[in-house]
Amino acid sequence: MIETKLHDDVLEIVMANPPVNALGAQVRQGLAKALADAQGDPAIKAIVIRGAGKMFSGGADITEFGKPPVDPWLPQVVDAIEASAKPVVAAIHGMALGGGLEVALGAHYRIASPKARLGLPEVSLGILPGAGGTQRLPRLVGVETALGMIVSGTPIAASKAAQAGLVDKLAESDESLAAEAIAYARTLTAPRRTGDRSVSADPAVFEQFAAQNARKIKGLDAPQACIAAVKAATELPLDQGQEKERALFQQLVAGEQSKALRHVFFAERAAAKIDGLPKDIQLRPITKVGVIGAGTMGGGISMNFLSAHIPVTMVEMAQDALDRGIGVMRKNYEATAAKGRLTAEQVEKAMGLVTPTLDFSALADCDLIIEAVYENMDVKKEIFARLDGIAKPGAMLASNTSYLSIDEIAAATTRPQDVLGLHFFSPANVMKLVEVVRGAKTAPDALATGMDIARKIGKVPVVAGVCYGFIGNRMLIPRQANANALLLEGATPEQVDRVHTDFGMPMGPFQMADLAGVDIGWHRDPSRIESLQDALCAEGRWGQKKQAGFYDYDEKRRPTPSPVVATIIDDFRARAGIVPRDISDEEIMVRTLYSMVNEGAKILEEGIAQRASDIDVVWNYGYGWPRHKGGPMFWADTVGLDKIAQALTRYQQALGAEFTLSPLLLDCAAQGKPLDR
Ligand code: CAA
Repeated sequence: MIETKLHDDVLEIVMANPPVNALGAQVRQGLAKALADAQGDPAIKAIVIRGAGKMFSGGADITEFGKPPVDPWLPQVVDAIEASAKPVVAAIHGMALGGGLEVALGAHYRIASPKARLGLPEVSLGILPGAGGTQRLPRLVGVETALGMIVSGTPIAASKAAQAGLVDKLAESDESLAAEAIAYARTLTAPRRTGDRSVSADPAVFEQFAAQNARKIKGLDAPQACIAAVKAATELPLDQGQEKERALFQQLVAGEQSKALRHVFFAERAAAKIDGLPKDIQLRPITKVGVIGAGTMGGGISMNFLSAHIPVTMVEMAQDALDRGIGVMRKNYEATAAKGRLTAEQVEKAMGLVTPTLDFSALADCDLIIEAVYENMDVKKEIFARLDGIAKPGAMLASNTSYLSIDEIAAATTRPQDVLGLHFFSPANVMKLVEVVRGAKTAPDALATGMDIARKIGKVPVVAGVCYGFIGNRMLIPRQANANALLLEGATPEQVDRVHTDFGMPMGPFQMADLAGVDIGWHRDPSRIESLQDALCAEGRWGQKKQAGFYDYDEKRRPTPSPVVATIIDDFRARAGIVPRDISDEEIMVRTLYSMVNEGAKILEEGIAQRASDIDVVWNYGYGWPRHKGGPMFWADTVGLDKIAQALTRYQQALGAEFTLSPLLLDCAAQGKPLDR
């Protein structure tokens, strides 16, 4: 775990704990020992610490959190580095994150290769830098920069770190770093301890910072604690500041938010793994992609590939639809460029990679073809049968369907092994989630390639089995059905949505319906009014696009409760003979959120999702589930499955005849087990 090499009078200490040199117990012990040994060796004049492999260090070993501590603690190791009587240089390449950067902050000098990135991302795990980072970083770079780095958690590039005073010297390259660090160490005559410095700031700075970031940090424990810890650096000597930091760290790490955020970290990585597939499976090369349909989804999907420098052939039925689609893509890119996130050259480069065409046979040389036309099984089958006659052997044929059976679509071809679902979420160029739908006959290498290409274009892919709505949308079905029923029984759209937004969702079911379009799936006959949705659509209340849906919208799309909708709901109730009653927030919670958990449990027991945490990833990245609540399945475990099962049983009649309780949920609740297969 720790290798040491003596280069004449400079000792090189190398952390070697693949894949990220996490600072687990053995690494800490090895570091402490190597340092102590070096102090007593008169032949050693200076010390260099660096990481083996692809980075300096990814920080503390997150898997150790929540377990009994093992000596020495990281703060002790960092203090020992700083206390060294011989100059210590940290030589940074790749990433220096969290505890990794704190080790480097304990060192007296820092040299970094130009591609290195340095950061304290603890806040995204619901904790704060617990090994002196909140005390030493402000002493080195000032309060403002330190607050920015610690509260955002975003790493900065080596060049920026050098400007800020965090890095003393930039090396030529990754390859020359070790040698340059040794030469640099040899020039140093004495330690230079960050802990000996002091830092001051007007106390108002902290309040201002909190106020400026109020929206981002609302309801989150860790950012508040980070601010308090940095403030302590301006008020206390290092050791007392570190005590304060330690106390805050212990509070956070034991809290529900941090547990949830750590769960999300590991859930995301687990989702990348496909059960039962050999690790060394050969992937299919994807160098050219075809997209059928230039609508909102087709355009968004195409942009992902273009941005990743993969050429796209885009096919449409009519020239005007094609032109419109290409125009929207360009407009989207230009809007990003206007915000300074792309250059004009990058926009042209991306748009230069798209070949718009009306000729279906132009798809013949594509390695992956994604169908993104409207939801109609007959149309999709016809497209796939045509594709079967055109696509080259081994090409992957994907549908972006949100609900329909990939098996039925695959059966329209003679190559069901090449067919899979790639379900992007709207807006497809922004949303990170892709459900990679595995049909009964999808070949393992096609599935693995689907996961891989999704990652290459910056997405978070999750494997799903075939069922109506896959993972995410299937869970929306009981939620929306109950939300609609609750309106008729006496709730208002505002009340139902508020329960969701108070919970931390970006929007509630009716705000979401307005955004997506109330008219989705509407039969388009204004005289046929069988549901509330029919009644709204008949009045032209199609959602945000008409500035009227469940809410009224102004020209800036800001919603206000609608008296018209209240009347429509009243009329509907009267016709159905429903006497409205007071609906409690608790009932809304049970019938919308708990019912989703129940559907998730069914998805799990049917094997549609590989693991409970995959469902959490779907909800985090597809629907904005608050990360600090982990995801619906993790959250259910924290609420208590017995409590959820009891509440659902209590409301079973209201939930509807088609609603059945998941045997897995009941079983886990009875046995006190978490929701996992
Ligand atoms: N502890 C334990 N395991 C870690 C880890 C860590 N800090 N960082 C990464 N891993 C594991 C991952 O779980 C993954 O394991 P599997 O292969 O079994 O799934 C493996 O290392 C590789 O990770 P990635 O797939 O994420 O690799 P990557 O190259 O894409 O990214 C990375 C590397 C940027 C370091 C990324 O892993 C990352 O962001 N890690 C977390 C960094 C972090 O938050 N550090 C702060 C830790 S808390 C701390 O240090 C507290 C303190 O002050 C005392």
